[in-house]
Amino acid sequence: MIRSVAGFFVKIFFGFFLRIDKKPLHPDLEKACRLYEEDSFTGLFSRIRVWDAPFEQVEKLVPKKGLILDLGCGDGLLANYLAISGPERKIVGVDLNKERIKHAQKGLKNTRFIHEDALKEKGLSPDVIIMSHVLHHLKSFEAQDKLLQDCIAGLRKGGKLIILEIKPSLSLEYLVTIVVDYTIYPMLFEKKIIGSRVYYRKEGNWVNLLSSCGLNVKREKVTGKPFSHMILVAEKSRI
Ligand SMILES: C[S@@+](CC[C@H](N)C(=O)[O-])C[C@H]1O[C@@H](n2cnc3c(N)ncnc32)[C@H](O)[C@@H]1O
Repeated sequence: MIRSVAGFFVKIFFGFFLRIDKKPLHPDLEKACRLYEEDSFTGLFSRIRVWDAPFEQVEKLVPKKGLILDLGCGDGLLANYLAISGPERKIVGVDLNKERIKHAQKGLKNTRFIHEDALKEKGLSPDVIIMSHVLHHLKSFEAQDKLLQDCIAGLRKGGKLIILEIKPSLSLEYLVTIVVDYTIYPMLFEKKIIGSRVYYRKEGNWVNLLSSCGLNVKREKVTGKPFSHMILVAEKSRI
């Protein structure tokens, strides 16, 4: 019920923006979005997600080959896009939400989706771990620290962590992000009217944390999106 009402408002509100901002997508991202059209909610949501998140920018940072783990993959849109745009990539998506994991399975040969807590996922030794808008939804700052430590330990030498996070700033984009994270997101995906606390950190704070774990961190600037994003690419030493 909550989801239907929220879905109705999301359709009207975001539908307006999608209609006026009709930039063509990269053909592989367009193909990925089409996989979601069989269901009207995921179909609309995939269009909203590629409009509000810098997935094309993230894709360019991911090597064309190797094992890629997408932790908190949600409906798997980014994971399926990475699989389409890199047939030699092996993508494993993990999410705590059973329903979203079900929507993620689109039958692409180089994908696998697992219903699991990211904090419990062990033993894959991936080349890349992606966390797209996941860390701030964990239960505490300590849970973020623990997940990052586990990821770094599991990543192969020379591997990369690619983190897409919310960038706190004095901006309209940040305000929109807070409203979405505390109201629209919980209504759509947690069946709650007001969400639990989210745990944002400043960009410098993430950079210091990752650097203190021995990673070489680069920041990627994100512009032209309605949310306040940051992308961090943190590489594990080869020795
Ligand atoms: C904002 S959504 C982002 C989904 C997707 N990564 C994207 O960028 O569209 C956050 C996702 O993280 C998942 N999540 C939160 N905590 C998790 C955990 N401990 N383990 C696995 N998934 C988790 C939620 O179920 C949700 O699907």
